[in-house]
Amino acid sequence: MHILITGGAGFIGSTYVQLVLERYPDDHVTVLDALTYAGSQHNLDHVLAEARLDFVHGNIADASLVDDLVGQVDAVVNFAAETHVDRSLLDPEAFMRSNVHGVYVLLGAARRHSRRLVQVSTDEVYGDVPTGEHSTERDPLSPRSPYSAAKAGGDLLCQSFVVSYGTDVVVTRGCNTIGPRQYPEKLVPLFVMNAIRDEPLPVYGDGMQVRDWLHAEDHAAAIDVALRRGRAGEVYNVGAGNERPNIDVVKAILAYLGKEESLIRYVSDRPGHDRRYALSWEKIRTEFGWTPAQSFEQTLRHTVDWYVDNPAWWSAIRDGSGDFARYYAQQYGWRLSAASAMPAQEG
Ligand code: DAU
Repeated sequence: MHILITGGAGFIGSTYVQLVLERYPDDHVTVLDALTYAGSQHNLDHVLAEARLDFVHGNIADASLVDDLVGQVDAVVNFAAETHVDRSLLDPEAFMRSNVHGVYVLLGAARRHSRRLVQVSTDEVYGDVPTGEHSTERDPLSPRSPYSAAKAGGDLLCQSFVVSYGTDVVVTRGCNTIGPRQYPEKLVPLFVMNAIRDEPLPVYGDGMQVRDWLHAEDHAAAIDVALRRGRAGEVYNVGAGNERPNIDVVKAILAYLGKEESLIRYVSDRPGHDRRYALSWEKIRTEFGWTPAQSFEQTLRHTVDWYVDNPAWWSAIRDGSGDFARYYAQQYGWRLSAASAMPAQEG
């Protein structure tokens, strides 16, 4: 199979590129990536010498480029997206372009060339989930941030192309994913980096928000199942069964690194912060036997170890004067100064 992997120089995308090249010796991969702040060709360094891999620098919203590429492959897997909730609150525009319009462009090309499109989506489209409940694929979408609303927009466009044109689309909705090469704006890599440097860890609100944590390799394996075996027009949830309050994840990182909990700062909350996401992934498990291979402890340890072993990778982002420095100052500057003026509180 020749697969177009859009967003393949990003975090989960590059993990999937590696999976395909390792697992399928006859497959060919073309990566299309816009190399925005969160993507880097270096994320493909370990596979770049592979003759079965081509790299194209470009955007999924570029209709003629996308049409040309989709015509040359057997299937498309779309990882290209703006992914960070906090950035969507600061500046939603780019999220509409990539997560809505970009998906629309991909769908048009998949329809014209009769190709399968796998759209990689998120559990956040279901919105806040009350304790004890788990979202199933039939639940209504109830996104509450510009990020999740844009992803839900992409999902609904997929549904409309399935119904209106019979386009072959499969949607996956995954939970919080960690592992090597995740841009260090997300909770786990950011906190590992700060803890290594004995800098404060900014926990939003009371830290009791619950997320479910999955290894990127397990997530990539589920997406591969969706591509090769998923039924056309279906949605598959990809959960892990590792629900944890954020503060427990943060304390586990500190304990593993041998750092003090005094690094924790409770800071002003993310506006509209969803308290809990939780998925039922019975469908992908019963239809195809997919289930995560790695426990929460293995997943967290492997992730932390990678950041400890690869300081050059994240120092280049963290110590530069570009995007990360600007974003960190805007997102955390006032939060951390306000927190240091108050006594530490918990719960
Ligand atoms: O659930 C899947 C989603 O997981 C993906 O669709 C998103 O693309 C991905 O960014 C992630 O979204 P979250 O908002 O859950 O991830 P994040 O790592 O930003 O935050 C995880 C939790 O930690 C969330 O409850 C907010 C909290 N948090 C995060 C940061 C960055 C903090 O308390 N402090 C922080 O500085």
